[in-house]
Amino acid sequence: MAFKVPRGTQDILPEQTPKWQKVESVLRELSRVYRYKEIRTPIFEQTELFQRGVGDTTDIVQKEMYTFDDRGGRSLTLRPEGTAAAVRAYVEHKMFGYPDQPVKLSYMGPMFRYERQQAGRYRQFVQYGVEAIGSADPAIDAEVISLAMDIYQTVGLKDLKLVLNSLGDKETRDAHRTALIKHFEPSIGEFCSDCQNRLEKNPLRILDCKKDHEHPLMSTAPALTDYLTESSAQYFNQVKNYLDVLGIQYEVDPNLVRGLDYYNHTAFEIMSTAQGFGAITTLCGGGRYNGLVEDIGGPDVPGIGFAMSIERLLLALEAEGVELEVGDALDIYVVAIGEEAKLKSAELISSFRTKGIAADMDYVDRKMKAQMKSADRLGAKFVIVIGESELEENAVNVKEMESGNQEKIEFHNLVNYLLEHK
Ligand code: HAM
Repeated sequence: MAFKVPRGTQDILPEQTPKWQKVESVLRELSRVYRYKEIRTPIFEQTELFQRGVGDTTDIVQKEMYTFDDRGGRSLTLRPEGTAAAVRAYVEHKMFGYPDQPVKLSYMGPMFRYERQQAGRYRQFVQYGVEAIGSADPAIDAEVISLAMDIYQTVGLKDLKLVLNSLGDKETRDAHRTALIKHFEPSIGEFCSDCQNRLEKNPLRILDCKKDHEHPLMSTAPALTDYLTESSAQYFNQVKNYLDVLGIQYEVDPNLVRGLDYYNHTAFEIMSTAQGFGAITTLCGGGRYNGLVEDIGGPDVPGIGFAMSIERLLLALEAEGVELEVGDALDIYVVAIGEEAKLKSAELISSFRTKGIAADMDYVDRKMKAQMKSADRLGAKFVIVIGESELEENAVNVKEMESGNQEKIEFHNLVNYLLEHK
């Protein structure tokens, strides 16, 4: 039997990892610049955390979680997202008592959702996300959004669209909810069973239905923005003012509701507008969640954040034809002819490596020509060929592959030469 990766997962092969590492380094660097400190939480959590945190009526909780009982009979779930766990940790470790508020966290790691596999939708994917917990200042909404945009721009993406909405406060949501029920109830029989269930429990979710999105009642549904309370509308305006000051362009889409229950006020998504990106264009999603900390057992503290998958970021780069500069090239390849030369090579590459010079040699007894080809394939900047005469002279021609230039350097001067020229 031939084994394969589980459906919806992928191996990231050695030729692909440099791109991943490059993106990861951009993410780490921008987390540092914006001061979002990394938090690492477990891959699995108590199932109830997500039921409560993400919301019982969401697709994630109803259909997509990898849930299992451990040997002690506890129900555990592989994390489908990072916000609930970050907030759990915030509450558990009483971060609301930290002197510097808001607490700004970032995370990066695998998430798991049992979704239908398609381009850009995996069952295991890597999310980078941030959470700013402890501030209800519209300036931080703009900061979080600008960090997300900065990430995409730093890696070189151009075809981006930021879509923004306000989901308002509780009063807004209650008024809108009543209007939605009134709108959908007479024809709810024409909708899928999920939507029928959502009508009473959480009618806002109907607007996000993947099956019924073409139904004519969808486009005429009452928009949340028409029900915004004065203070919510004012908050939304302030967020927009900050975005304007930061020079960040956006579109307001009153139908943007997001797929998780914890949002209120600011909600946003960043889409790729690149041709041929595929059906799923959302690169990043986030928003404000002012009730979540309390729902998870903490004090009434507001929060906002976003998450993005590295998989979709890489797909967007591909769609836009952006090549990342990955910097994984080899500094020097040492070609050895004969046993004694091989011993010398081993000694030399060890001295290179201790100085941070990336060096490699042949370990499968190939002829000189094949070794030269390897050096070429590996993108080595320099090549040296060690044979009898080099051993006798204690010196070797260092060939710069791109220019073809050669310079004779004594063995004991090689490290310095390479450090100067690599
Ligand atoms: P989300 O919209 O469920 O939000 O996911 C955020 C991002 O994760 C998506 O925009 C996409 O880039 C990526 N993503 C989600 N599902 C998949 C998948 N199956 N395959 C590949 N990529 C995927 C959240 O997870 C919230 N926790 C975001 C947040 C943080 N809100 C506030 N703080």
